[in-house]
Amino acid sequence: MTRSEGHVALSATRRLLGQEGPLRLKRGRLWIESLPSDEVASSLGTPILVYSSARLRDNVREALEAADSSGYPTRVHFALKACYLVGVVALMKEAGLGVEVMSGFEYALARRIGFTPDHVIVNGPAKRPEFLERAVRDEVALINVESMAEIASLEDLARRLRKPVRVGVRINPLPSRHLRGPFAPPGSKFGFDVPTGEAGAAVRRVARSRSLSLQAVHCHSYTRQYSPDAHRAHVALVVKFVRRVEADLGIRIPALDLGGGIGSRSLVEAAGQTLHSFMNRMLEPLAGLAGDRQILIEPGRYLVNDAAVCLTRVLSSKLNGGRRWVVVDAGRNLLPPRRNAEYAVVPCEVRPGRRLYRVGDFLCMPSEPVPLSFISGPVEPGDLLGVFNAGAYTFSMAQRFGEPIPSAILVDKADWTWLHRQRSVEQELESLSGAAGQRTGGAGR
Ligand SMILES: Cc1ncc(COP(=O)(O)O)c(C=O)c1O
Repeated sequence: MTRSEGHVALSATRRLLGQEGPLRLKRGRLWIESLPSDEVASSLGTPILVYSSARLRDNVREALEAADSSGYPTRVHFALKACYLVGVVALMKEAGLGVEVMSGFEYALARRIGFTPDHVIVNGPAKRPEFLERAVRDEVALINVESMAEIASLEDLARRLRKPVRVGVRINPLPSRHLRGPFAPPGSKFGFDVPTGEAGAAVRRVARSRSLSLQAVHCHSYTRQYSPDAHRAHVALVVKFVRRVEADLGIRIPALDLGGGIGSRSLVEAAGQTLHSFMNRMLEPLAGLAGDRQILIEPGRYLVNDAAVCLTRVLSSKLNGGRRWVVVDAGRNLLPPRRNAEYAVVPCEVRPGRRLYRVGDFLCMPSEPVPLSFISGPVEPGDLLGVFNAGAYTFSMAQRFGEPIPSAILVDKADWTWLHRQRSVEQELESLSGAAGQRTGGAGR
C-alpha cells in the first residue's frame, strides 16, 4: 500500500467507525458490537483478531443482494483463501454462499465447514493429483483448469472413475498494460493467454473431449478494486473471446466465472460505489452475449476484510531521528506485510491532541506490516490500538514467527466465541520437537 492508499484506508475506516454500525467509536472508546475493545483485550490478551458477526452477515447480505439484482443468475462463492476460520466461513455457508478452494487442504476445510461438493469451485495453477481425484470423485461444481497437462489428467480420471467432470478454462484476456491486473501479466503461471491463441486451444481441447464437460470460462485478474472499470474491461474481453470460440466451435458455454478482486466493502463504499453498482457496471458487456448465462463470482476480501480488527498493545514508544514510534505486540506473524493490505490504525481510546506516531511491530525485521502512522494525543506503553481491515489474508497467512499464532474470536452482540485459541508456548515447543516427540521409523513419513 502506498502512503496515499494508506490514507484512503484510514479515512474509510474512520467513516465506518462513525456510522453507528457494529464496529464504532462511542464516547471516545472503540466498541465491537456490545463489547468495549479494552475489556476484550484485558480479559483475553493481545494481540487478538476480533471479528464482528453482524458486519460479516451484513457484508454477505450486500453481496447476495447485488447478485440477485445483477440481471443474471449469479452465484457467490467465498474465496476460502481469504479466511480459514471455521466460525467465520460457517456464517457465509448458512447465508447460502458457495465456496472457492485452491488446494486439497482448503477443500477438506470447506467440507468440514459443511459445504457440499456441488457448492465448491476448484481453482489453482497446479493441483495435486490426489486432490484432483477427490474433486472428480465427489463431483464438485466446477474445476477450473490451468494447463493442458491438467486437462489430460482430468480426462484420465473421468474415464477411470466414470464420473462427469464439469470444467472451466481459466483465460487471461490481457488488455492494455494499465488495465492489466497483477494476476495475469503476459505469460504468467496462471491459466491460458488469449492473444497467443493458447486460451482458444484449451477451450477447443475441452469442448472436443468425450469425457469432460465444458461449463465455464474463468477469469481472475485483479485484487483490491474500488471502481468497476478494470473488471468491466475484462468482462468485455471475456465476452469477445466467448463469442469467437462459440461461433468457431458451434457450442455454448453456460457459465462465466469472473473471479474476485473487489476491495473491502468500506473502501468500495467510501469510493462512492456499492457492490450493486460495481456489479451492474462490470456486467454491462454481457449484453453483447446471446442466451442465458450463469455468472459466478469469487470474492474474498470484500466479504471479510472490514469485519475484523486486530487489537494490539503498545509495548514501547520512543523518539528516534526525530520520529515518534510506537512498537506494538501484533506482528507480521498475524498481519502479513502485503502491498495490497488495507490496514488502518486507530487508537482504541480517543485522546485529544495531534501527534504523529509511526507504528512498528515487535519483530526484528526492518519493514513493517503496518507501514502506517496515526495522529492522536499522547500514546504510551500499555495503550491499545486497533488495526482495521484485518479480516482477509491475515489468519490464513499467519505464521509462527516470533510467537505462536495469536487468538481470534467472533463477537455476536455481547457474546463471543473462540475462532482460534493461541497455542501455549509449551504446546508450540512440543510441536517444534517433532510431532509431540513421537518417532516413526525409516523415512519418518
Ligand atoms: C482465483 C481466485 N479467485 C478469487 C480470489 C479472491 O480474491 P479477492 O480476495 O481479491 O476477492 C483469488 C485471490 O487471489 C483468486 O486467486
